Amino acid sequence: MTALTAQPSGALSGEAPVPGDKSISHRALMLGALAVGETTASGVLEGEDVLRTAAVLRALGAEVERDGPGLWRVRGRGVGGLAEPDDVLDFGNSGTGARLAMGLLAGQPLTAVMTGDDSLRRRPMGRVIEPLSRMGLSVISRAGGRLPLTLTAPETLLPIEYRLPVASAQVKSAILLAGLSAPGETRVIEPEATRDHSERMLRAFGATVAVEDRPDGRHIVLTGQPELAATGVVVPADPSSAAFPTVAALLLEGSEIRLGGVGLNPLRAGVFETLREMGAEISEENRRDAAGEPVADLRVRASALKGVEVPPERAPSMIDEYPILAVAAASAQGTTVMRGLAELRVKESDRLAVVARGLAACGVEVEEGPDSLVVHGRGERPRGGATIAAELDHRIAMSFLVLGLAAEEPVTIDDVGPIDTSFPGFVGLMTGLGAQFAEPGA
Ligand code: S3P
Repeated sequence: MTALTAQPSGALSGEAPVPGDKSISHRALMLGALAVGETTASGVLEGEDVLRTAAVLRALGAEVERDGPGLWRVRGRGVGGLAEPDDVLDFGNSGTGARLAMGLLAGQPLTAVMTGDDSLRRRPMGRVIEPLSRMGLSVISRAGGRLPLTLTAPETLLPIEYRLPVASAQVKSAILLAGLSAPGETRVIEPEATRDHSERMLRAFGATVAVEDRPDGRHIVLTGQPELAATGVVVPADPSSAAFPTVAALLLEGSEIRLGGVGLNPLRAGVFETLREMGAEISEENRRDAAGEPVADLRVRASALKGVEVPPERAPSMIDEYPILAVAAASAQGTTVMRGLAELRVKESDRLAVVARGLAACGVEVEEGPDSLVVHGRGERPRGGATIAAELDHRIAMSFLVLGLAAEEPVTIDDVGPIDTSFPGFVGLMTGLGAQFAEPGA
């Protein structure tokens, strides 16, 4: 475990080169492995989670090569063409890697054993096992659908119509990836729209995906057994990662930073909308399209924030950003109410509990409900002065480091190792902008 202390810091300035989008990087490698020909991807996130996915795809017989920083090449084996792995597939900390891979594996005639780290082995896989079992997958898991598990794919998968019981892009994507191998139409109905990177990228690889907004939700209909054709993918900077330097710059007086090429898919960008409602000065420049995903350069200036009520229906578009939003709320003037957050309890950690505990330890008045968080900010630096257990959760580690930069007293994170899962180079990037960190006790 490597501990790190964030010191109360002054203004941040400069360019923040945020790494590639985690969701899109996983999908680019996976669809590349199912395509015929050679897929190239640039801007790929080289965090632990995505590196695990690359290793898994190699174990399944795809050629996955790194040509340079963020530049990857995948020679695929065609839909249904992946080979049985001869050892356990280890997904590390990555829920996205594990859940999407279950859908991918369901469509290959093989048996595979999957596991992950202490955090991932606690997370529920039943939400993916259930629909994939209906399609014909056999799964033996630990109690409660936990990893490790063994799955065996059937000769022929059945297409299904499935209404998502939880708003989860991972579940939707697993079903669509499996549906590639099923004859006919696989239909997923989302009562609440979730990030649509899979739909966009499936189309870019040549699959037919129809999307219809109906009174009962969004219907996504995939035509099975396409031949996927290799393509070029440009991965935008990850908006979820961009949120950390963004909030730090908003809170530290006199700051002005620029973040280039940030993905602004409307189903991902809820945090920027919410921060603007709180009074944040975040401007967009050079809006453009990067291989089917909207991106822009962001300019962020320090701003006096006020508390807001976050509409619960916005939660799917900012589900990973509540920990850092709570940190922004801790410095804002007034109360911020966040509801509809039950899913936060099954992320890399129980983020509702961990955020509430951490804020309280830093002297912030906070109320935790079963699926809500209410933060009372005083429009000034919170006290800080605590040690926070990251609980193998990268976003908890980064959120509380940002809190420490904007607090009265330093904040120590017990283990910053998990940050590498999604944002390798986070501490260096923030230091380059002017943030101050120290070894604990130094
Ligand atoms: C992701 C979906 C979300 C998100 C995760 C990435 C994806 O999870 O929290 O970080 O890439 O599909 P859920 O599907 O569990 O909401």
